[in-house]
Amino acid sequence: MKFLAVVLVLLSANVAWAAGPSAYEKGSFGKIKIDLSNRTSLQRGAKYFVNYCLSCHPAQHSRYKRVADDLGISEDLMRNNMIFTEQKFGDLMTVAMKREDAMKWFLGIDPPDLSTHVRAIGPQAVYEYLKTFYIDETRPFGVNNLHLPNTAMPHVLVNLQGTQKAVFHDETDENGKEHPVFDRFETLEPGTLSEAQYEQVVVDTVNFLAYLSEPAQLVRKRIGIGVLFFLVVLGALSYFLKKNYWMDIH
Ligand code: HEC
Repeated sequence: MKFLAVVLVLLSANVAWAAGPSAYEKGSFGKIKIDLSNRTSLQRGAKYFVNYCLSCHPAQHSRYKRVADDLGISEDLMRNNMIFTEQKFGDLMTVAMKREDAMKWFLGIDPPDLSTHVRAIGPQAVYEYLKTFYIDETRPFGVNNLHLPNTAMPHVLVNLQGTQKAVFHDETDENGKEHPVFDRFETLEPGTLSEAQYEQVVVDTVNFLAYLSEPAQLVRKRIGIGVLFFLVVLGALSYFLKKNYWMDIH
């Protein structure tokens, strides 16, 4: 009985949450297609990551050198254009900002380590997060987010995307309570990029983060292709060998 009660409470909490202040249909902003074979996309994503994200979010399981090697970025390019702090080429991608400062600035919420966090929430969530920031003057940074309501993160790509406002309409649930439900975004001020260009920036960044959250994927794919190739060659050899052995018997 107790168990049932707990389940019921959890269920109703879930419903209430689903119809919360910024309820929206997941996936309605498109689905991200991760393509780890697209090196130029991964390289651009790495550039966006170090420029726009690494100042707050560490990627403590990755080294600059490993990323450069995996993505075919030269050591010079990485050193001169992608490492902004005192860090060295072989260092882990940590953050210069002191953790206590980060805590104070961001309402007590530490920006998560993106190499592990993205593995937990998945690329689609990051994709929707980066696309659904909207102006909300009641929030400390003047922005809110559909994917993560009342987020503590500022909209760091706002110069590129521009500003947008969210339009909601009220829906009444079965308990007779009204909830605002997301309708659409309306552009307020355009950014330096077109909508399609901003989409590409988001796709590249998320593509890179998908790689970063599991760098072994690239190696696994390469090994996988190698193994398949080996099997095909082995298969062909065995076939001809068999033919050769049976030649005199037929
Ligand atoms: C100024 C600091 C700052 C910068 C720069 C920044 N973030 Fe964040 N980010 C945060 C904070 C703080 C949180 C925690 C937000 C929360 O839990 O409300 C966060 C949370 C996140 C999350 C977790 C979302 C979730 O659903 O749990 C993702 C993903 C993320 N950031 C991606 C990025 C990406 C990608 C960039 C670069 C384009 C970036 N962030 C740049 C501060 C920052």
